[in-house]
Amino acid sequence: MANALLLPILACSLLAVMVSTAFAGNFNNDFDITWGDGRAKVLNNGQLLTLSLDKASGSGFQSKSEYLFGKIDMQLKLVPGNSAGTVTAYYLSSQGPTHDEIDFEFLGNLSGDPYTLHTNVFTQGKGNREMQFKLWFDPTKDFHTYSVIWNPQQIIFMVDGTPIRVFRNLETKGVAFPKSQAMRIYSSLWNADDWATRGGLIKTDWKNAPFIASYRSFNADACVWVAGRSRCPAARKMGGGGAGTWMDYRMDVTNQKRMLWVQSNYMIYNYCADRKRFPQGLPTECTVN
Ligand SMILES: *[C@@H]1O[C@H](CO)[C@@H](O)[C@H](O)[C@H]1NC(C)=O
Repeated sequence: MANALLLPILACSLLAVMVSTAFAGNFNNDFDITWGDGRAKVLNNGQLLTLSLDKASGSGFQSKSEYLFGKIDMQLKLVPGNSAGTVTAYYLSSQGPTHDEIDFEFLGNLSGDPYTLHTNVFTQGKGNREMQFKLWFDPTKDFHTYSVIWNPQQIIFMVDGTPIRVFRNLETKGVAFPKSQAMRIYSSLWNADDWATRGGLIKTDWKNAPFIASYRSFNADACVWVAGRSRCPAARKMGGGGAGTWMDYRMDVTNQKRMLWVQSNYMIYNYCADRKRFPQGLPTECTVN
């Protein structure tokens, strides 16, 4: 009797394991190392990727696939200790002069001083939409999940499942929105000590090199661009979210409150509040309700 009850449960959880294995990213299958002359490494059978930076060079990788809408998660553990001057960029981008782009950039800092998480959105080649945050945890101690939900209504930046920023589709108000150019995922670790830490005042201390950032648990529940067509996952699939959870995703009140909490406590720069920078008036998306 007990067995008869247990069996279906066992079978289900086995299936769930199989399904989630099938969808869990593998860096060997999903990414190409693009530069760094051996400084970028795929380890643990494709489960871990590390980028490294020393005085001679940084390193980087990009996704093999191009995506058009989806929920894309990556866990990152950033350069620990004195990481001043280093920048870990993690972003989605299409190509060409009118490209679209969704950016996370992590600006390193002196030991004990907080990283800056810099975000931006480019549409049709135009950016200038910077928002910067501190984090509510030390991003160098453990892996944390950085996600983008990108659907036809909005782009949501998330940290460990907490939304920190939304870029809404305001095409009806004349603001371009990324919706027709597929994007690849890119990441790189490089030296930017001419500007990154306190505006370039603090230089990279090469005594601490090589600097290392680590990546794991990549998951793209996303439409993949293949031969000029977008192929989306089924609306529901076992063990994974499926398009149903992100294609129509809108933040509920709880998530809106969480985003407000982050923005009131951890946001350190918001282009929409920078009137000096836009003397002719703030960008349209900043003034529409
Ligand atoms: C580094 O820490 C200092 C002091 O807390 C802070 O002012 C600065 O914004 C931090 N981030 C960067 C990238 O300089």
